[in-house]
Amino acid sequence: MENPIQKFASWWQEALSNSPLDQKSAVCVSTIDERGFPAGRFVDLKQVDERGFIFCTAFDSAKGHQIKQNPNTAITIWWDHVGYQVRVVGLAEAIEQADANAFWETRNRSARLTTTAFQQSQPLQSEIELTERLNKATEQFIGQQIPKPENWGGYCVKPLSIEFLTFQKSRLHLRKFFELKNGIWIKRLLQP
Ligand SMILES: Cc1cc2nc3c(=O)[nH]c(=O)nc-3n(C[C@H](O)[C@H](O)[C@H](O)COP(=O)(O)O)c2cc1C
Repeated sequence: MENPIQKFASWWQEALSNSPLDQKSAVCVSTIDERGFPAGRFVDLKQVDERGFIFCTAFDSAKGHQIKQNPNTAITIWWDHVGYQVRVVGLAEAIEQADANAFWETRNRSARLTTTAFQQSQPLQSEIELTERLNKATEQFIGQQIPKPENWGGYCVKPLSIEFLTFQKSRLHLRKFFELKNGIWIKRLLQP
């Protein structure tokens, strides 16, 4: 029986290996907002294993608040150069602090500084405030390590279903839909 996590890992590897994109692992994460509308935005996919799909962000961002209210989440991916679409539906859960620390360690100084300088999703008074905030954070941490902010970490989207679509110019796209039922992945094909 095909395992959809292993299948994803193999597709991701293939997509990464010859990607023409700068942001090779950008994926659209959709959450449910306070009004019940889907809210989508791109994030960087960090890791995928049997536990789920991990991305990092600020817990008190809009998406963080939305996940707290409602963990129902979707991830949508399109890799044009290989013709693959993947759609994941699942429940988002915060990852352990130790794991968040490990992801923080992989970030370069510039990424750490911007994360520290801004309160993600809060209003910005003016464009000037962007550089003012960054300069302030840069001065604050001259010659020092930049610690992970308390409000920064990761979410793991634990999948309930995963659909793989192989795009065909003929439009006879092959769709393989996997659904988790009682801990077992059930596979069926869907019409294009
Ligand atoms: C290619 C790309 C990658 C991004 N990666 C991340 C990311 O890994 N984490 C993150 O919090 N925001 C990331 N962003 C910014 C988000 O799209 C979004 O603007 C931000 O997280 C605020 O979303 P929210 O207000 O819905 O919480 C990325 C944006 C783009 C275009």
